[in-house]
Amino acid sequence: MITARRHRIGVIPGDGTGPEVVAEALKVLAAVSRGFALDLEGFDLGGERYLRTGEVLPDEELDRLAGLDAILLGAIGHPGVPPGVLERGLLLRIRFELDQYVNLRPVRRYPGVATFVPSHAPEDVDLVVVRENTEGLYAGAGGVHRPGTPHEVATEESINTRRGVERCMRFAFEYARRSDRRGHVTLVHKTNVLTHAGGLWERAFRAVAEEHPDVGTDYVHVDAACVYLLESPGRFDVVVTDNLFGDIITDLGAVIQGGMGVAAGANLNPEGVSMFEPIGGTAPDHAGRGTINPLAAIAAAGMLLEALGELEGAARVDAGVRFAAPKLGSMRAGEMGYSTSEVGDLVVEGTTR
Ligand code: IPM
Ligand code: MN
Repeated sequence: MITARRHRIGVIPGDGTGPEVVAEALKVLAAVSRGFALDLEGFDLGGERYLRTGEVLPDEELDRLAGLDAILLGAIGHPGVPPGVLERGLLLRIRFELDQYVNLRPVRRYPGVATFVPSHAPEDVDLVVVRENTEGLYAGAGGVHRPGTPHEVATEESINTRRGVERCMRFAFEYARRSDRRGHVTLVHKTNVLTHAGGLWERAFRAVAEEHPDVGTDYVHVDAACVYLLESPGRFDVVVTDNLFGDIITDLGAVIQGGMGVAAGANLNPEGVSMFEPIGGTAPDHAGRGTINPLAAIAAAGMLLEALGELEGAARVDAGVRFAAPKLGSMRAGEMGYSTSEVGDLVVEGTTR
């Protein structure tokens, strides 16, 4: 008798358009679940729950998340909740407590997707950003003194540990060796100004590069990286960078992919529980209207399958996204020419071709 492989998946639809895009991702996952089964466990977390109960992420629910095989997340953030409560208390808490130390964000333009940068050929845009995901300016170090007075003082400190940076570097260099990469890693930082953190990043980069003599290396300042992403993205294969720089350049990356609607990401703990999400956010203006693009959430679900080792399922999701993407008028919400669920249906159709 053949026993199907089973994977326990936590599902956090979250806020805004999160539930709509997660529904399409689950539709596609169901369509490609052959030879394996996903046991879904829903989590009511996000702004609505917080406003209703005052709870952001009870410890007991974090413990349950930590016991799963993977997590699929829609989006977190609510206009009625003060900034930081959900971002720090929920999203960043999961990333930190589950030690998801790499935020892997592929930046690729699927064939047939319109671009905002006319000089780009589709094959120019094919890189991955390895964003450090547990430290830097996101660590929460710092404080405020005498807030709200003319004498107020606020500090926000960037925390960089050799171990934290090095494990992220190592992931980037190993990733560059994959058959679908080109064997090249670019460090993006601001070493000419952030000399303390930048020095550590550079030393870690050089040390890990020595262990990978077959991988080519380059260094680019983060401001220049923004220019190159627009002018010559083909120079990047694998980019490794710190948490905040990675946050910012991957939004620019999403634009050169054709729009936020197609940009997926993975919060990876290669030795633990990883979480997969579209990087675009909650898009509150589009919530409940069936106008949001679910391709990013669907592609994130594909990354989830790949991380679980379900490579055939992941390949089917990828085929579905590649089938659907060129049929859409735009990757942007409200400009697709299809509703959210119709795009999901197109992807499902493409998974069987
Ligand atoms: C992202 C988001 C988050 C981040 C926010 C919502 C905390 O912008 O995933 O890129 O800054 O990491
Ligand atoms: Mn961001």
